[in-house]
Amino acid sequence: MLLEMVLGKPREWLLGHDTDPLAPEAAARFLTLAAQRRQGVPMAHLVGHREFMGLRLSVSQDVLIPRPETELLVEMALQSLPEGVELSLLDLGTGSGAVAISVALARPAVRVVATDLSEAALVVAQMNAQQLSAPVQFWRGNWYEALPPEGRFDVIVSNPPYIARHDPHLLQGDLRFEPVLALTDGADGLAALSQIVAGASQRLNAGGWLWLEHGYEQGADVAQLLLGSGFKAVETKQDLAGLPRVTGGSL
Ligand SMILES: C[S@@+](CC[C@H](N)C(=O)[O-])C[C@H]1O[C@@H](n2cnc3c(N)ncnc32)[C@H](O)[C@@H]1O
Repeated sequence: MLLEMVLGKPREWLLGHDTDPLAPEAAARFLTLAAQRRQGVPMAHLVGHREFMGLRLSVSQDVLIPRPETELLVEMALQSLPEGVELSLLDLGTGSGAVAISVALARPAVRVVATDLSEAALVVAQMNAQQLSAPVQFWRGNWYEALPPEGRFDVIVSNPPYIARHDPHLLQGDLRFEPVLALTDGADGLAALSQIVAGASQRLNAGGWLWLEHGYEQGADVAQLLLGSGFKAVETKQDLAGLPRVTGGSL
């Protein structure tokens, strides 16, 4: 991938030209990128994009690199939004815009609104929405406070920061290079999830759905939060690895 990027050629071209000499500038650029990769810089940061739901999303150090497990959150949103029906969806903490943009493109009849506290993340999300011609309305602010006072939604989704403040994973792998605001709530991992559940009844239409991504050990806690706030049909869904990663319910 790094060589593809340096030469601006697809993989097939590289395979057909595997004995061609490299120009010195290209070799130097490739070696610099390879050294950064060895130091742990995520591939998505080196190449500047990541595939999500079959879409190419631009990413930077200002956003979480979209994860395959988050596609489950999109699937649950789509299941709650029948095709061709004029409903609405709110994506809280949109980061690169991955979830909001995927839903907007898969359900053109749905009005999609997305928020983030990070201005820098919203710049990336807006750029992605524009590049992919996805009609998404963006607002900046703390969870629901980002929104105009009026306005309810049929579906709310969020993949909030849910890693506990002292979790050693924060010091490992790609996480070292991603925004702290996207990873941890600065508390026990349930603070942002609790806030989002607590505010949902003020922002959901009757019969609306809330779907939340969470850590694989947080399913029972999130289900309890939802039940405690009056949600019904609460269930936890497993990702492709068989891990409980998304919990939701309806009001
Ligand atoms: C785990 S990332 C998810 C990004 C994206 N939705 C995804 O799934 O790839 C969490 C996002 O929540 C945002 N965030 C953190 N605290 C927030 C808050 N108080 N209000 C709104 N957004 C917040 C972060 O900036 C980050 O973009």
